[in-house]
Amino acid sequence: MNGLARLMALGAISTAILPGAMAAQTAEPVFVNTLMPQPAQLTVGSGVLPISPNFTVATDKFHDQRLDDAIGWAMQRLKLQVGFVIQNAAPGAPAALLVSVDGPGEAVQGLDEDESYSLDITPQGAHLHAATDVGAIHGLETFLQLVQSSGQGFFLPAVSIQDSPRFRWRGLMIDCSRHFEPVGVIERTLDAMAAVKMNVFHWHLSDDQGFRIQSNIFPKLTEDGSDGLYYTQDQAREVVAYARGLGIRVVPEFDMPGHSTSWVVGYPDLASGPGPFSIERHFGVFDAVMDPTRDSTYQFLDKFIGEMAAIFPDEYMHIGGDENNGVEWKNNPRIQAFMRAHDLKDTAALQAYFNQRLLTILQKYHKKMIGWDEIMTPGLPKDVVVQSWRGFDSLAAGAKQGYSGILSAGYYLDHMVPASEYYRVDPVPANSNLTPEQASRILGGEACMWGEYVDPQIIDSRIWPRASAIAERLWSPQSVDNVDDMYRRLWVESLRIEALGLTQISQEAVSLRALAGSQQIDALQTLASILEPVDFDARSSWSDAHGVTTLTPLDHLVDALPPDPPSRHDFRELVSTYLQDPIGHPEQQTALITLFRSWAAAQPDLTDVMADAPLLGNALPRAEQLTQLSALGLEAVSYLSSGLPAPQGWKAQQLAVLDQAAQPIALTQFTVIQPLRDLVNEVQ
Ligand code: ACM
Repeated sequence: MNGLARLMALGAISTAILPGAMAAQTAEPVFVNTLMPQPAQLTVGSGVLPISPNFTVATDKFHDQRLDDAIGWAMQRLKLQVGFVIQNAAPGAPAALLVSVDGPGEAVQGLDEDESYSLDITPQGAHLHAATDVGAIHGLETFLQLVQSSGQGFFLPAVSIQDSPRFRWRGLMIDCSRHFEPVGVIERTLDAMAAVKMNVFHWHLSDDQGFRIQSNIFPKLTEDGSDGLYYTQDQAREVVAYARGLGIRVVPEFDMPGHSTSWVVGYPDLASGPGPFSIERHFGVFDAVMDPTRDSTYQFLDKFIGEMAAIFPDEYMHIGGDENNGVEWKNNPRIQAFMRAHDLKDTAALQAYFNQRLLTILQKYHKKMIGWDEIMTPGLPKDVVVQSWRGFDSLAAGAKQGYSGILSAGYYLDHMVPASEYYRVDPVPANSNLTPEQASRILGGEACMWGEYVDPQIIDSRIWPRASAIAERLWSPQSVDNVDDMYRRLWVESLRIEALGLTQISQEAVSLRALAGSQQIDALQTLASILEPVDFDARSSWSDAHGVTTLTPLDHLVDALPPDPPSRHDFRELVSTYLQDPIGHPEQQTALITLFRSWAAAQPDLTDVMADAPLLGNALPRAEQLTQLSALGLEAVSYLSSGLPAPQGWKAQQLAVLDQAAQPIALTQFTVIQPLRDLVNEVQ
């Protein structure tokens, strides 16, 4: 049992962490709200609707294959939870869950799809109503999240929910270029996205490090640019269809004119520099850039975009546009002469010229353009969507000029920051000075999973559950902003996502076992439970200094650790409750003592395991630090709970220990340093 599990067992942290946990303790089942995202409106009724083996489901009004499949998938998941098959109601017979949908929704889901639904549950039955399949798909997820249990069995609390999203664009971007993610990973990610009502999968399919989609017209894109790791067109169509079944749009991104090394390996004539080129193995910004001066570039792109437009039906196509350093343009005399002849004063102006020509091609294939901040240049048509990675200010500036935009600055999952930080980032903050019309141009946001340090084994833990906090920010009313309550529900949602087949919880133990060989990992888990990866900047500088590439395996302790593990928030909450009244909070005192003792108890085994595990050797100092933190914590609690002062010099000595422990080791950092500082600082 790790430290946090002990805390949970002791009831020191929220006992409502599992649905029904509270209900089991009382005669009358009570509603435990674990919904994520929170609905726009919820009224709690009285009583419950039991889920018994004669629970049935039916549709009235409209139904089609997508709706039938969505209901079938939801009932399959319910079956696994409750332990019996959920039957369709016999024709004409009343159903326990009645799904009423007015119509199919848009043939290609768009920005204006009606995603709203209502769900009314009484002891007599549940009624889900939606205008379209998409609303029903969202409502079914809410239905599943409402399932609770008690000693008497499974039930749905009586509630009435009216729900619709605050923002229309609630996305997740995955960079499949720097590390390739197989279709299975993509599809399970789509399942998790649907669970939290995200509706756009932004598929970053090309970058310097790999070209990831098959082109029949330009086969060398993948033959020379992918190391054999790419999606076939059939697979891409399968993903699009799978996503549609979940109410999710797929927006492909082909990053250009920069970030394009993988294109020019097979097609060097596209490039502005002399070549030859090879797939980029390092990370950062590189010089390879398409040649915007040649007609042949646009002829190539016309054919390529036409081919891709037939695979991806979404009305938007993402053209990247970010981080072109202009070096090859400046170094090429022919391109310089072109710029002079066309009165293009700098490389930004040349990129704007490129974008205009690209836009004409997109329009030919009935696609709207979306790109990163850098595409926003004067003269760009107003139906272009700008995805802001550089900051809220550029998003707001775009909205003031009439551009629609989505926010990604502040939602970079690879930055490894806690869910609470993403949760505070709002595409239209309460203090925004945008007019209502300008604010309405902000379509929503996207979480971004850049691929430098993720692979198929660990990607789930880099996305989930933190992306659920972003999903809630984008769906729920702005007033839903209580961080403690978000975390309480986030852990439950993480369990539900894991039940869908994702691995963000279980992968940690799998990775630790791989590191420890045949040794027991209990002690290692105790340490790991209070460690997390350092942030992106620290990892990047270390990686650059150590020659890390796309080929470097992601198999060290840092890769096993999920960012923002439960210990970060829950330990902070425990310490803060304890510190409100150290003498009057014996329960928190006991929890802290038990936790600190578990750290010290782990050390002997931990040292043994780490000493024998080659890939853990450089993290060995963490084992000794665990004991130091344990001693420090126990002493602090003993002074605080007795009200006695510590000896002269004690505090300074402990703060020095904490400063030392706060230093990154092997790209890991402790999650518990600040609350431990708070404990030490409170001692007299
Ligand atoms: C980006 O982070 N370069 C979009």
